[in-house]
Amino acid sequence: MVQQAKTEVKVLAGADGAVALLLDELCAVVQANGSDGAQRPLISFATGDTFTAFFRALDAEMQGGRLNSNEFIGTHLDEYMGFEPKRAGGMVHELILRCPGVREMLARGSFLPVPCHGAEGSLRAHEERLARAGGIKLQFLGIGRNGHVAFNEPGASFDEGYHVTMLAESTREDSKSRFVPDNPPRRAVTAGVKSILDAERIVLCAFGPGKAEAVRSMLEGDVSPNCPASALRRHKNVLVLLDPAAASRLDSDATAGASC
Ligand code: GLP
Repeated sequence: MVQQAKTEVKVLAGADGAVALLLDELCAVVQANGSDGAQRPLISFATGDTFTAFFRALDAEMQGGRLNSNEFIGTHLDEYMGFEPKRAGGMVHELILRCPGVREMLARGSFLPVPCHGAEGSLRAHEERLARAGGIKLQFLGIGRNGHVAFNEPGASFDEGYHVTMLAESTREDSKSRFVPDNPPRRAVTAGVKSILDAERIVLCAFGPGKAEAVRSMLEGDVSPNCPASALRRHKNVLVLLDPAAASRLDSDATAGASC
């Protein structure tokens, strides 16, 4: 029988409360790795509305000189197929809009974009680059309302690295506003569940009632590809930050004593 680690869950008074905690997580990794002269830590970001306030705050920290973007290397989880960083609707484009400091990191080569055309060789080369950078020390993560993480839709294998995938219809529906007047893409390039679980620490955020059922499946359902996010229960160092609406379908025991 596989021993499962207990996932730490915090229910915040509101989503706004996550911003300071996420910045603390990032700064702790930067300091821990900088202090002993080791290589700059690799931090992988998630996109999506869940992280908008965090990215704005991150940019303010960078612009204010409180956080030096030279002290870490950045990457991200996933990209719509064929969406180069300059193309509106794409993940890197969104990151740059919300945190312009990422554009400078990209220009200096200290932000490693997911190869958006999905060629097999480019995906393996990306994995090798991440490994040479010391592997992902901190992975930020959101969750889709169908339980997806990155673009690992229900049914995705837990054993895959970066790969090309088809998007679920609910995921395309949720992304509609990014692509108006066009239709959302059908394919994307994504970190696999295995790539995500390789990170040293994972911090997942979920806010709002639309995420409540996915959060329940992730934390209390079976660990199964039916809910890709449930794979996180196989990782020993995961923090889940929720607002009360996203936590509303959890057993009260799951979060007892964890509110703040
Ligand atoms: C997309 C991304 C995920 C993200 C999810 C949730 O599908 N691939 O990485 O977690 O959306 O997005 P939002 O934060 O907008 O709800």
